[in-house]
Amino acid sequence: MGRQLIAGNWKMNGLFGPGSAQAKELAARASAGTPLAAELLVCPPAQLLLPFAEIFQDSGIALGGQDCHTAARGAHTGDISAEMLADAGCTYVIVGHSERRADHGESDAEVKAKAEAARGADLIPIVCVGETEDQRRSGKALSVIEGQIRGSLPENPEDSRLVIAYEPVWAIGTGLTAKPSDVQEVHGHIRDLLSGLFGLEAGAAVRILYGGSVKPANAAELLAVPNVDGALVGGASLLAEDFWAIAAT
Ligand code: PGA
Repeated sequence: MGRQLIAGNWKMNGLFGPGSAQAKELAARASAGTPLAAELLVCPPAQLLLPFAEIFQDSGIALGGQDCHTAARGAHTGDISAEMLADAGCTYVIVGHSERRADHGESDAEVKAKAEAARGADLIPIVCVGETEDQRRSGKALSVIEGQIRGSLPENPEDSRLVIAYEPVWAIGTGLTAKPSDVQEVHGHIRDLLSGLFGLEAGAAVRILYGGSVKPANAAELLAVPNVDGALVGGASLLAEDFWAIAAT
Protein backbone atom coordinates (compact mmCIF):
# COMPACT_ATOMS: atom_id res chain seq x y z
CA MET A 1 0.00 0.00 0.00
CA GLY A 2 1.28 3.46 -0.93
CA ARG A 3 1.08 6.61 1.13
CA GLN A 4 -2.27 7.76 2.42
CA LEU A 5 -3.95 10.23 0.07
CA ILE A 6 -5.52 13.35 1.59
CA ALA A 7 -7.67 14.94 -1.10
CA GLY A 8 -9.43 18.30 -0.87
CA ASN A 9 -12.68 18.70 -2.80
CA TRP A 10 -13.40 22.42 -3.00
CA LYS A 11 -16.70 21.84 -4.84
CA MET A 12 -18.13 25.11 -6.25
CA ASN A 13 -16.14 27.27 -3.83
CA GLY A 14 -13.17 29.52 -4.44
CA LEU A 15 -12.53 32.80 -6.21
CA PHE A 16 -9.16 33.66 -7.67
CA GLY A 17 -7.88 36.05 -4.96
CA PRO A 18 -8.77 34.31 -1.71
CA GLY A 19 -8.49 30.84 -3.26
CA SER A 20 -4.95 31.52 -4.47
CA ALA A 21 -4.01 32.82 -1.01
CA GLN A 22 -5.07 29.50 0.55
CA ALA A 23 -3.24 27.53 -2.14
CA LYS A 24 -0.08 29.58 -1.58
CA GLU A 25 -0.23 28.95 2.14
CA LEU A 26 -0.61 25.24 1.53
CA ALA A 27 2.31 25.23 -0.92
CA ALA A 28 4.48 27.13 1.56
CA ARG A 29 3.72 24.61 4.29
CA ALA A 30 4.39 21.69 1.95
CA SER A 31 7.70 23.14 0.80
CA ALA A 32 8.99 23.92 4.31
CA GLY A 33 10.27 21.37 6.81
CA THR A 34 10.05 17.61 6.52
CA PRO A 35 7.73 16.25 3.84
CA LEU A 36 4.38 14.86 4.98
CA ALA A 37 3.90 11.14 5.23
CA ALA A 38 0.66 11.55 3.26
CA GLU A 39 0.20 12.56 -0.38
CA LEU A 40 -1.71 15.83 -0.76
CA LEU A 41 -4.22 16.56 -3.53
CA VAL A 42 -6.37 19.63 -4.16
CA CYS A 43 -9.39 19.53 -6.52
CA PRO A 44 -10.43 23.17 -6.98
CA PRO A 45 -13.11 24.50 -9.34
CA ALA A 46 -11.98 24.50 -12.99
CA GLN A 47 -11.06 28.19 -13.26
CA LEU A 48 -8.44 27.74 -10.53
CA LEU A 49 -6.67 24.77 -12.08
CA LEU A 50 -4.11 26.68 -14.13
CA PRO A 51 -3.16 29.20 -11.43
CA PHE A 52 -2.98 26.42 -8.83
CA ALA A 53 -0.79 24.31 -11.13
CA GLU A 54 1.70 27.15 -11.03
CA ILE A 55 1.37 27.69 -7.27
CA PHE A 56 1.82 23.97 -6.50
CA GLN A 57 4.82 23.56 -8.80
CA ASP A 58 7.71 22.01 -6.79
CA SER A 59 5.51 21.70 -3.67
CA GLY A 60 4.64 18.04 -4.23
CA ILE A 61 0.90 18.87 -3.99
CA ALA A 62 -1.11 17.16 -6.72
CA LEU A 63 -3.95 18.79 -8.63
CA GLY A 64 -7.25 17.18 -9.59
CA GLY A 65 -10.55 17.90 -11.32
CA GLN A 66 -13.99 17.39 -9.75
CA ASP A 67 -15.63 15.74 -12.74
CA CYS A 68 -14.95 14.99 -16.40
CA HIS A 69 -17.02 14.22 -19.47
CA THR A 70 -16.98 10.76 -21.00
CA ALA A 71 -15.79 12.15 -24.34
CA ALA A 72 -12.41 13.73 -25.07
CA ARG A 73 -13.87 16.75 -26.89
CA GLY A 74 -16.87 17.90 -28.86
CA ALA A 75 -20.24 19.59 -28.64
CA HIS A 76 -20.84 19.38 -24.87
CA THR A 77 -21.45 22.93 -23.69
CA GLY A 78 -20.27 23.57 -20.16
CA ASP A 79 -18.41 20.28 -19.74
CA ILE A 80 -14.72 19.59 -19.33
CA SER A 81 -12.84 16.56 -20.60
CA ALA A 82 -10.24 14.43 -18.86
CA GLU A 83 -7.74 15.45 -21.52
CA MET A 84 -8.34 19.14 -20.67
CA LEU A 85 -7.83 18.44 -16.98
CA ALA A 86 -4.56 16.66 -17.72
CA ASP A 87 -3.56 19.57 -19.95
CA ALA A 88 -4.15 21.93 -17.01
CA GLY A 89 -1.79 19.94 -14.80
CA CYS A 90 -4.16 17.47 -13.13
CA THR A 91 -3.15 13.93 -12.23
CA TYR A 92 -6.45 12.94 -10.57
CA VAL A 93 -10.16 13.48 -11.18
CA ILE A 94 -13.13 12.81 -8.88
CA VAL A 95 -15.97 10.97 -10.65
CA GLY A 96 -19.40 9.96 -9.42
CA HIS A 97 -19.51 12.26 -6.40
CA SER A 98 -22.93 11.94 -4.77
CA GLU A 99 -23.65 15.59 -5.59
CA ARG A 100 -23.08 14.81 -9.31
CA ARG A 101 -25.14 11.63 -9.03
CA ALA A 102 -27.98 13.63 -7.38
CA ASP A 103 -27.78 17.00 -9.20
CA HIS A 104 -27.04 15.60 -12.67
CA GLY A 105 -28.65 12.17 -12.46
CA GLU A 106 -25.36 10.38 -13.13
CA SER A 107 -25.79 6.61 -13.30
CA ASP A 108 -23.20 3.98 -12.40
CA ALA A 109 -22.70 3.32 -16.12
CA GLU A 110 -21.96 7.00 -16.75
CA VAL A 111 -19.58 7.15 -13.81
CA LYS A 112 -17.79 4.08 -15.16
CA ALA A 113 -17.47 5.72 -18.59
CA LYS A 114 -16.05 8.84 -16.92
CA ALA A 115 -13.56 6.75 -14.93
CA GLU A 116 -12.47 5.08 -18.16
CA ALA A 117 -12.16 8.45 -19.92
CA ALA A 118 -10.00 9.61 -17.01
CA ARG A 119 -7.71 6.61 -17.34
CA GLY A 120 -7.54 7.17 -21.08
CA ALA A 121 -6.13 10.63 -20.39
CA ASP A 122 -3.64 9.22 -17.84
CA LEU A 123 -5.57 10.59 -14.89
CA ILE A 124 -6.26 8.55 -11.76
CA PRO A 125 -10.03 8.46 -11.19
CA ILE A 126 -11.36 8.79 -7.64
CA VAL A 127 -14.65 6.91 -7.90
CA CYS A 128 -17.15 7.92 -5.20
CA VAL A 129 -19.71 5.61 -3.66
CA GLY A 130 -21.93 5.84 -0.60
CA GLU A 131 -25.38 5.16 0.78
CA THR A 132 -28.14 7.61 1.72
CA GLU A 133 -29.53 7.86 5.23
CA ASP A 134 -32.65 5.87 4.26
CA GLN A 135 -30.56 3.13 2.71
CA ARG A 136 -28.47 2.85 5.88
CA ARG A 137 -31.54 2.85 8.13
CA SER A 138 -33.12 0.06 6.12
CA GLY A 139 -29.96 -2.08 6.32
CA LYS A 140 -29.11 -1.70 2.63
CA ALA A 141 -25.83 0.23 2.93
CA LEU A 142 -23.50 -2.62 1.96
CA SER A 143 -25.62 -3.84 -0.94
CA VAL A 144 -26.02 -0.30 -2.33
CA ILE A 145 -22.26 0.27 -2.14
CA GLU A 146 -21.58 -3.11 -3.72
CA GLY A 147 -23.88 -2.25 -6.63
CA GLN A 148 -22.14 1.10 -7.11
CA ILE A 149 -18.70 -0.54 -7.03
CA ARG A 150 -19.68 -3.23 -9.53
CA GLY A 151 -21.32 -0.67 -11.82
CA SER A 152 -18.95 2.31 -11.59
CA LEU A 153 -15.40 0.96 -11.70
CA PRO A 154 -13.40 1.05 -14.91
CA GLU A 155 -12.55 -2.27 -16.55
CA ASN A 156 -9.15 -3.78 -15.81
CA PRO A 157 -7.75 -1.10 -13.54
CA GLU A 158 -4.04 -1.42 -12.97
CA ASP A 159 -4.13 -1.35 -9.17
CA SER A 160 -2.62 1.90 -7.93
CA ARG A 161 -4.11 3.89 -10.85
CA LEU A 162 -7.52 3.78 -9.19
CA VAL A 163 -8.88 5.33 -5.98
CA ILE A 164 -12.27 4.74 -4.38
CA ALA A 165 -13.90 7.18 -1.97
CA TYR A 166 -16.55 5.92 0.43
CA GLU A 167 -18.73 8.88 1.32
CA PRO A 168 -21.96 8.19 3.17
CA VAL A 169 -24.33 10.78 1.67
CA TRP A 170 -25.79 11.63 5.09
CA ALA A 171 -22.32 12.54 6.39
CA ILE A 172 -21.41 14.98 3.60
CA GLY A 173 -21.42 18.58 4.76
CA THR A 174 -23.62 17.73 7.74
CA GLY A 175 -21.03 17.54 10.52
CA LEU A 176 -22.10 13.91 11.04
CA THR A 177 -19.43 11.28 10.53
CA ALA A 178 -19.80 7.56 10.25
CA LYS A 179 -18.74 5.59 13.33
CA PRO A 180 -15.25 4.08 12.95
CA SER A 181 -16.81 0.61 13.30
CA ASP A 182 -19.16 1.33 10.36
CA VAL A 183 -16.30 2.76 8.30
CA GLN A 184 -14.28 -0.37 9.04
CA GLU A 185 -17.15 -2.60 7.95
CA VAL A 186 -17.74 -0.75 4.67
CA HIS A 187 -14.04 -0.39 3.79
CA GLY A 188 -13.46 -4.07 4.57
CA HIS A 189 -16.39 -4.98 2.33
CA ILE A 190 -15.04 -2.80 -0.50
CA ARG A 191 -11.57 -4.38 -0.09
CA ASP A 192 -13.07 -7.87 -0.34
CA LEU A 193 -15.00 -6.85 -3.45
CA LEU A 194 -11.85 -5.43 -5.04
CA SER A 195 -9.91 -8.60 -4.28
CA GLY A 196 -12.68 -10.65 -5.86
CA LEU A 197 -12.81 -8.42 -8.94
CA PHE A 198 -9.12 -7.82 -9.58
CA GLY A 199 -7.25 -10.41 -7.51
CA LEU A 200 -5.65 -10.09 -4.09
CA GLU A 201 -2.60 -8.05 -5.03
CA ALA A 202 -4.32 -5.56 -7.32
CA GLY A 203 -7.26 -5.32 -4.93
CA ALA A 204 -4.94 -4.46 -2.05
CA ALA A 205 -3.22 -1.71 -4.06
CA VAL A 206 -6.39 0.34 -4.65
CA ARG A 207 -6.61 3.16 -2.14
CA ILE A 208 -9.97 3.53 -0.39
CA LEU A 209 -10.62 7.01 1.02
CA TYR A 210 -13.23 7.94 3.60
CA GLY A 211 -15.18 11.17 3.09
CA GLY A 212 -17.95 12.97 4.96
CA SER A 213 -17.32 15.77 7.46
CA VAL A 214 -13.66 14.89 7.97
CA LYS A 215 -12.03 17.64 10.03
CA PRO A 216 -8.90 18.11 12.15
CA ALA A 217 -10.73 16.92 15.27
CA ASN A 218 -11.82 13.53 13.87
CA ALA A 219 -9.16 12.82 11.22
CA ALA A 220 -6.81 10.79 13.43
CA GLU A 221 -9.56 8.41 14.50
CA LEU A 222 -10.88 7.89 10.95
CA LEU A 223 -7.47 7.58 9.28
CA ALA A 224 -6.47 4.87 11.77
CA VAL A 225 -9.33 2.57 10.72
CA PRO A 226 -8.12 -0.54 8.85
CA ASN A 227 -8.44 -0.21 5.04
CA VAL A 228 -8.78 3.58 5.24
CA ASP A 229 -6.06 4.81 2.89
CA GLY A 230 -6.80 8.50 3.12
CA ALA A 231 -9.62 11.03 3.15
CA LEU A 232 -11.71 13.06 0.73
CA VAL A 233 -12.27 16.35 2.51
CA GLY A 234 -14.86 18.95 1.48
CA GLY A 235 -15.55 21.89 3.79
CA ALA A 236 -12.39 21.52 5.87
CA SER A 237 -10.16 21.60 2.76
CA LEU A 238 -11.06 25.24 2.02
CA LEU A 239 -8.83 26.56 4.79
CA ALA A 240 -5.16 25.70 4.36
CA GLU A 241 -4.68 25.52 8.12
CA ASP A 242 -7.41 22.89 8.61
CA PHE A 243 -6.50 20.89 5.53
CA TRP A 244 -2.87 20.85 6.59
CA ALA A 245 -3.83 19.73 10.10
CA ILE A 246 -5.74 16.78 8.60
CA ALA A 247 -2.88 15.89 6.26
CA ALA A 248 -0.32 16.10 9.06
CA THR A 249 -2.40 13.79 11.29
P1 PGA B 1 -17.50 17.41 3.54
O1 PGA B 1 -17.55 16.93 2.02
O2 PGA B 1 -16.11 17.11 4.06
O3 PGA B 1 -17.78 18.88 3.49
O4 PGA B 1 -18.52 16.62 4.28
C1 PGA B 1 -16.89 15.76 1.61
C2 PGA B 1 -17.15 15.52 0.14
O5 PGA B 1 -18.29 15.70 -0.32
O6 PGA B 1 -16.23 15.15 -0.60
